[in-house]
Amino acid sequence: MKALILGTLGKPLEEALKLSGVSYEVYTPEQLMIYVSESTSGYDRFFDARPELTEPVRLKAKDFDFVISRIGSGAEKGATILEHLTENMGLFGSQNADGIRICSNKLRTHLKLSQKGIRTPPTVWGNRIAHTGFVLKKLLDGLPAVGKTSLGSQGEGVFILESPLAANTTLQTLYKFDADILLQKFIKGVGFQDIRAIVVNGKVVSAMERSAPTGDFRANLSQGGSGRKIDLSTDDKALAVSAADAVGLSGFCGVDLLKDKDGKTYVVETNSNPGDLICTITGYNHFLALVEFCKSKGKKLEQKQELPNSQDKGVSVNTLARNSNPFWSEADEFIYQEKQKLNLSRMPR
Ligand SMILES: Nc1ncnc2c1ncn2[C@@H]1O[C@H](COP(=O)(O)OP(=O)(O)OP(=O)(O)O)[C@@H](O)[C@H]1O
Ligand SMILES: [Mg+2]
Repeated sequence: MKALILGTLGKPLEEALKLSGVSYEVYTPEQLMIYVSESTSGYDRFFDARPELTEPVRLKAKDFDFVISRIGSGAEKGATILEHLTENMGLFGSQNADGIRICSNKLRTHLKLSQKGIRTPPTVWGNRIAHTGFVLKKLLDGLPAVGKTSLGSQGEGVFILESPLAANTTLQTLYKFDADILLQKFIKGVGFQDIRAIVVNGKVVSAMERSAPTGDFRANLSQGGSGRKIDLSTDDKALAVSAADAVGLSGFCGVDLLKDKDGKTYVVETNSNPGDLICTITGYNHFLALVEFCKSKGKKLEQKQELPNSQDKGVSVNTLARNSNPFWSEADEFIYQEKQKLNLSRMPR
């Protein structure tokens, strides 16, 4: 089997692919170019369009069995390419493009989670410039409170407001510059910890507790936090899976949980591209589960023969293939007839 890796490969995924006997090609979204055809019978394409090539090289969906997306920054571009590969080219994807879009924006993530009845820290967004006192006291239980830029990641853009003066002056400044921020109730736990759970195919496959470094409240490993493997309770596992599902990423997602002093659990974040360090910390490579999941879902398109490289002006690809392809076999004809019966207008590309 062969995988198309969209985005960053990384060591653990590379190892998992090798152990699972899956070959792969890696492309960043920036390297790919999509083509939406005028045909009504489906003849969209995609190309390797790296600038150093003399001309774009056409890649074929039938040469791959599935796409594993690992989109970091530039989520919108990555999601668009992924959407084309999965929805237009018919490849199975480890993730859903809209899920990546939702996760790239903290506010949209909270909206989705709340729509599905999943507890998140109380969060405020909108026109509150003149009402900082009301928001902090009445909606967020006072100080400290947490501020976040909608589009930040790895702890960057997450800040704490501790004193009334710091809160007023910081918010005044941010509003002046029209910053897109959300304000959130500070969830006080026993220390400054959070939990990262990895969900693959609707199951929690590994989890770690992260502790903030001294002097910080953010537990991100990229901010110097430390992690240790933990086992989640059945309820917390179910919560993490529901959160992944709510944002459309039950195939693969990193879910961040916060616990308050009473043990109440909040979903604080869903990540479409969770970092690899959890593999080292837990000693478990969750990409093995991901690759197996994709192997079970992705399957070779039945039609192995190359179709003519037609510009397809009104003549369907299949008609061309049947009439002019010397390799058109009985098996191809059988598949073609079956698809006709099912009235499938879009054929393997
Ligand atoms: N409401 C909160 N109360 C207490 N601590 C919080 C709260 N929100 C965030 N934190 C702490 O700050 C860290 C970073 O916050 P968050 O996960 O929202 O953003 P991020 O890590 O920058 O985003 P991403 O996970 O997409 O990279 C959390 O892991 C947690 O330790
Ligand atoms: Mg986070």
